[in-house]
Amino acid sequence: MPDPDVIYSVFQKLRNRFPGFSADSKGERRLYLNSGAGSLMVDSCLGAINSEGAGLNPMPGQITPPENRTWQFQQQVRQLVADFLGAGSPDEISFHFSTTAALFNLAFALRSLFKPGKNLVVTDLDHFANISPWETIGASQGAEVRRVRLARDLSLDAADLLSKLDHNTVLVALTGASNVLGTIVPLTDLVSEIKQKSPALVVVDAVHLAPHAPIDVREIGCDFLAFSGYKIFGPMIGLLYSRLQVQDGLAPYRVETNKEQAPFCWEQGMLPNLQLAGLKGALEYLLEVGRAVSPADSSAPARKVFRRALEAVKRYEQDLSLYFLERLKKIGSPRLKLYGIDNPGRVTSRTPTFALEIAGLSPSELKRSFWEKGRIIIADGNHYSAVVVRHLQKSGLNRVSLAHYDGPDSLDLFFDCLENIITH
Ligand SMILES: Cc1ncc(COP(=O)(O)O)c(C=O)c1O
Repeated sequence: MPDPDVIYSVFQKLRNRFPGFSADSKGERRLYLNSGAGSLMVDSCLGAINSEGAGLNPMPGQITPPENRTWQFQQQVRQLVADFLGAGSPDEISFHFSTTAALFNLAFALRSLFKPGKNLVVTDLDHFANISPWETIGASQGAEVRRVRLARDLSLDAADLLSKLDHNTVLVALTGASNVLGTIVPLTDLVSEIKQKSPALVVVDAVHLAPHAPIDVREIGCDFLAFSGYKIFGPMIGLLYSRLQVQDGLAPYRVETNKEQAPFCWEQGMLPNLQLAGLKGALEYLLEVGRAVSPADSSAPARKVFRRALEAVKRYEQDLSLYFLERLKKIGSPRLKLYGIDNPGRVTSRTPTFALEIAGLSPSELKRSFWEKGRIIIADGNHYSAVVVRHLQKSGLNRVSLAHYDGPDSLDLFFDCLENIITH
């Protein structure tokens, strides 16, 4: 684990790498506290779109130099994503329009598993991107869909999940972290228990987890894992890890002339080179963070450097969460309610993503007040984690979501504005 003092001195400077940190593209001042909906883009992502993207050939190939450069470039990006996730091979990484599109294609590819008599398990903590594909395609093929409920503290009820498994469970789809409550799911332990109790394939939605904690697909033991470039400081693109050993016999949607082997069988049409260039820029930024917080590992393989970077992010963000919880408690207003983990002793089980409510103000009114009084952007609505919101019998919730470029100063501005809203 990198030294906390080094982490602090490095992180204090990192926000300068994000052109949108304090002002929008027109130079208008604002504070962005909606990174859960999409993080700010890092300068090296924007730079790579111009510098690398512009020079790429649409078609990759082996014979002419521009085609060959494009081929090498695409392979390099696959390798970087594989290193980011701890995957064994770049052939386990495919590129998609979005995580939602990747998971729909995956559900289609697995359709022969979903027969009458078989069942699959989804969870109430998930974003609908990891529920709807399984419910629509799984159920239409005749499989039973089982839903895992939330525990009293709104975390995933692991006992309920395990009780829903049997030898006919063909798939479990679960999230790495809730994008509305910030709750982290203990994936490694849970996946191991799932695998002991059933033959199910495990699909992880890591979209919300990816910017906040290291991910290691082999340690987790999942079969598939998806996440999105625009949550890790890059562009809009979906990434899917598919374990090589489970790819035989899968039938993703593809045109007949597309290559049959992984990862190409997962991809439709020409790859989006500009998005890939931006993704490469974002991942290289994370490597820079890893080298800065752990200089002793600076020449280590990329996998280790990514891990150091995300360990440092996690450590730093835990302090942000503690600061948030402390200041929230000090307000002490009976009108204010936080949903999700509020115990500082459990801060390692959450990301700095907070679901809030102020009695007497609808989520859209509160969002508007933050904008009008403080030029602060927060989120309202169901955040596509609609089951959580329905479970609480709400029409929506406000969400304040931070990333490692934020600091206590961002939170001071937020809390000053919150106090002003509550008292006026
Ligand atoms: C947890 C989670 N899963 C899935 C998605 C969907 O990702 P995409 O927009 O790439 O389809 C999101 C987007 O907000 C998300 O937060």
